Amino acid sequence: MSHRKHFFAIMLQGLVMALGIALVSQVAMAQEAVKAPPKDLVLKGDAKCTRCHDESDEPKVLSIGKTKHGTVADGRTPTCTSCHGESGAHLNKTPDGKRPTPDRVFKKTTPAEVQNEACTSCHKGGNRMFWDTSTHKNRGVACASCHDVHNNGHDKVRDKHTQTEVCYTCHKEQRAQMSRPSHHPVPEGKMACSDCHNPHGSAAPKQLKKDSVNETCYECHMEKRGPFVHNHQPVTEDCSICHNPHGTTAQTLLKQRMPLLCQNCHNASSHRTQAMQQLSGRSTSSGAIASMARGCLNCHTNIHGSNSTTSSSTGGRFRQ
Ligand code: HEC
Ligand code: HEC
Ligand code: HEC
Ligand code: HEC
Ligand code: HEC
Ligand code: HEC
Ligand code: HEC
Ligand code: HEC
Ligand code: HEC
Ligand code: HEC
Repeated sequence: MSHRKHFFAIMLQGLVMALGIALVSQVAMAQEAVKAPPKDLVLKGDAKCTRCHDESDEPKVLSIGKTKHGTVADGRTPTCTSCHGESGAHLNKTPDGKRPTPDRVFKKTTPAEVQNEACTSCHKGGNRMFWDTSTHKNRGVACASCHDVHNNGHDKVRDKHTQTEVCYTCHKEQRAQMSRPSHHPVPEGKMACSDCHNPHGSAAPKQLKKDSVNETCYECHMEKRGPFVHNHQPVTEDCSICHNPHGTTAQTLLKQRMPLLCQNCHNASSHRTQAMQQLSGRSTSSGAIASMARGCLNCHTNIHGSNSTTSSSTGGRFRQ
């Protein structure tokens, strides 16, 4: 046999074999198609659930595919059963025609602990480092009370413009405060509760984002941190002594009007200075001071702290 003939013989053999394989595999595929399991629709391995829970489900459960949980290429993402449990009993009706609920549902009647186990198995640490000691956890708030898992890629609580709707379902008092004349621009959607709070808990009181009230405020109001040559004690102690961060009827988020605010700590009648006499033309009276639009602040302009080194009776009095 010439080399060439030999070559063709091999080619022919190969061709027959390839055809054979193709044929066999086609038959196999055809056979499989008959009893092919339904395909996954949005999450890897969701077919065992989505053969029933499909586009026609109301509310739309498949919308979860549009969230980060639906990033199938991300090997860490969940499937239906990661959250709802294996749910063997739910997959089939019982002889009496009933269908037991899945192992885990997220109803008001489901204990928060049971609900949260579904999430904390993957979401530990990071921003949720203090979850276990948080007020929310300890008051039985569930992850799913805030997070809408089967959403269209829009989780209300994570959007500045819609977050408060979620918080206000439980926090009516803060809603009332935020609607007062002086407030942080939260109702305007420029800020969110989560700019100051970590709703997953924190090392600070009141689930504040930073380690204290002041550290939280300094994040945006750095100029109030100083350092100042002359400090005003309550300012360095806690901004919320004078301000209500959510909202007030008095100007500038102040808890009380002037001069009442100052008079919680400073006795107006002890203001024994010439200045007061100049002001009223008679002996010191808080009424005279109160009658001035800005009262104490007209003279004590740098109430958060002063850097004046000219003399202690100006800088030390926060007058420059
Ligand atoms: C054979 C069809 C079928 C399969 C498969 C199926 N379900 Fe269901 N499921 C139903 C029906 C029917 C209901 C009741 C719907 C209703 O009442 O509106 C239901 C209800 C539910 C509910 C709501 C239960 C409640 O009480 O609130 C959840 C959650 C659920 N299924 C999850 C799953 C998950 C997860 C899987 C896969 C492990 C799954 N289902 C597989 C048919 C099925
Ligand atoms: C990340 C966890 C998670 C995954 C994954 C998940 N679910 Fe859910 N499911 C929930 C939560 C939480 C609820 C309660 C409603 C909500 O918060 O959106 C819920 C509610 C439901 C409901 C009831 C809807 C209602 O409000 O009556 C059904 C049905 C359901 N899921 C089916 C599925 C199916 C099918 C899959 C897979 C395609 C799936 N779930 C994947 C967490 C999950
Ligand atoms: C099997 C693991 C797993 C489970 C269970 C799980 N998640 Fe997730 N989750 C992920 C992964 C992975 C991401 C994507 C993380 C990323 O992109 O950084 C994610 C992202 C998120 C996000 C951010 C979504 C976004 O758009 O950035 C939220 C909110 C969330 N999960 C809440 C929950 C809640 C609530 C539950 C319980 C009902 C839950 N998860 C259960 C793995 C899981
Ligand atoms: C009181 C409401 C609330 C509860 C309860 C809650 N979250 Fe959140 N979660 C939020 C808010 C608000 C954000 C957005 C925070 C931000 O933008 O700074 C968020 C963001 C997230 C994110 C994405 C960004 C990040 O921080 O990594 C994940 C993941 C998440 N939450 C998981 C969970 C899990 C898991 C639980 C339960 C253990 C839970 N959340 C409980 C309100 C809540
Ligand atoms: C399902 C109800 C619920 C939702 C939704 C909810 N909370 Fe709460 N929250 C509570 C409960 C209960 C407490 C403890 C009692 C109280 O102070 O009212 C609490 C306490 C707090 C506290 C005080 C913590 C402390 O240690 O004293 C802050 C801050 C807070 N929530 C912020 C938020 C923010 C921000 C949101 C929205 C992102 C939110 N909450 C959504 C139920 C909820
Ligand atoms: C500018 C920062 C800031 C913003 C924005 C903010 N908070 Fe607060 N919040 C605080 C501080 C500081 C405290 C603790 C001091 C206080 O109670 O005045 C607090 C306390 C709380 C408390 C506990 C009240 C108590 O009496 O124990 C709740 C509940 C709360 N905030 C909910 C919310 C909610 C809901 C939102 C969004 C609507 C929100 N906060 C927005 C700074 C803020
Ligand atoms: C995430 C940024 C941010 C944080 C954190 C923050 N603020 Fe503000 N603050 C703002 C913005 C924005 C305004 C509005 C400025 C404007 O309207 O020009 C504002 C305004 C104010 C005002 C003036 C309000 C007025 O009517 O003029 C006071 C007082 C104030 N903040 C106090 C605080 C205190 C106290 C804290 C800490 C509990 C705090 N802020 C935390 C962003 C922040
Ligand atoms: C002793 C009471 C008091 C304390 C404590 C206090 N403030 Fe003020 N704050 C005031 C007064 C009074 C005004 C109004 C000043 C004016 O109208 O000129 C004001 C105004 C403000 C303003 C708006 C005007 C400006 O000066 O920018 C901001 C922002 C502010 N304070 C932030 C803070 C922060 C942050 C802290 C904590 C570090 C704090 N305050 C602590 C009394 C106080
Ligand atoms: C929570 C209590 C408290 C409030 C409210 C308060 N202060 Fe003070 N203030 C103090 C303390 C404490 C000192 C330090 C006293 C000392 O060193 O003798 C101080 C010091 C001063 C000083 C300097 C006194 C000196 O002898 O050097 C002036 C001026 C002053 N405060 C003005 C004000 C004004 C104006 C207001 C209202 C905007 C105000 N304070 C609100 C507690 C307060
Ligand atoms: C017309 C300007 C003016 C007004 C208005 C004013 N002060 Fe003063 N204040 C001064 C001067 C000047 C001093 C310094 C006097 C001195 O060194 O003897 C002073 C000193 C003080 C001191 C420290 C000395 C002392 O008397 O204890 C405090 C505290 C104080 N003022 C608080 C207030 C409060 C609170 C108000 C509002 C009720 C107020 N001041 C209104 C000008 C004023």
